Amino acid sequence: MKNFKDKILEKLIMSEGKPVSGEELAHEFSVSRSAIWKHIRALRDEGYSIDSSTNIGYSLTGTPDSLTPGGIKAGLKTNIIGKNIQYFKETESTNIIAREMAGSVEEGTVVIAESQTGGRGRLGRKWLSPEGGIWLSIILKPGIQPLYAPRITLMAGVSAAKAIRSLGLPAKIKWPNDILINGKKVCGILTEIEAEIDMIEYCVVGIGIDANVDTESFPEEIRDNSTSLKKELGHEINRVDFVQKLLSEFEALYLKFQKDEFPSILEEWRTMSATIGEWVKITTQSKTIYGEAIGVDNEGALILETDEGKLEKIVAGNCEHLRKP
Ligand code: BTN
Repeated sequence: MKNFKDKILEKLIMSEGKPVSGEELAHEFSVSRSAIWKHIRALRDEGYSIDSSTNIGYSLTGTPDSLTPGGIKAGLKTNIIGKNIQYFKETESTNIIAREMAGSVEEGTVVIAESQTGGRGRLGRKWLSPEGGIWLSIILKPGIQPLYAPRITLMAGVSAAKAIRSLGLPAKIKWPNDILINGKKVCGILTEIEAEIDMIEYCVVGIGIDANVDTESFPEEIRDNSTSLKKELGHEINRVDFVQKLLSEFEALYLKFQKDEFPSILEEWRTMSATIGEWVKITTQSKTIYGEAIGVDNEGALILETDEGKLEKIVAGNCEHLRKP
């Protein structure tokens, strides 16, 4: 549900700089003009520049570079994903918040933060999350068996790659779901589930994108293998537009997923794969395997052909691309 502040903001954004009278707003939302004035003040406090002139009304003259729900929802064309957005200027991890609230909110709720103090990556790693990035978690209740959870992860990777490609960048997917541009990582995805033996109760898909981030300030061990949208494009992106695009791509794929059209999503994954055809080193909890990545199966497991010509199926693990011998 949008609150009045979000509705007023949406109206101002949609009127594209033309003034909207306080009386019209008060009438449309059945509140007093002083209530409208209170929300305008709150929007200004969030960084929106709003001109007001007596007898003419309010006009939006500038938006902040922030990911507040009102800005994202205005113009967002989804029906499920992002209908409810929980915003934090700073939080430990949007995945943690999403897991805490998953039981009591509707499917498609998005938790988003400007920065994270304890961002979580795959395989227990830390995830650096400074301001300027896009750090969000989507809560899903897909009604599927835990066995199929990797499908959601692959789907999320396809949605992120498509959103990045829409900026004109050659995004590819490294198995299972790192998004790379010219071989460097720009986005990571962490999917966490809460499940009974035979049914997922909820699934939290955490997506982290180095958008307007300076990767030069990253620690040495990740700096050389990381990039950002800003660095690749040579300019900052509009993060609100990008999040809207990402949520739309995500919803379109999720609707396909729910209609049992996962094979077509997997086909898209394959066409964007950076891993298939590469020599790789896979590290799982129990072993390290080298081989050529020759495909993914219907559940998204990586199929490797080892030096001895043996086929190995990898369900989860860390994947490193190697130079061909
Ligand atoms: C990876 O290791 O590649 C996955 C990184 C996932 C990071 C995102 S940022 C939003 C969400 N909140 C977290 O704490 N992690 C995920």
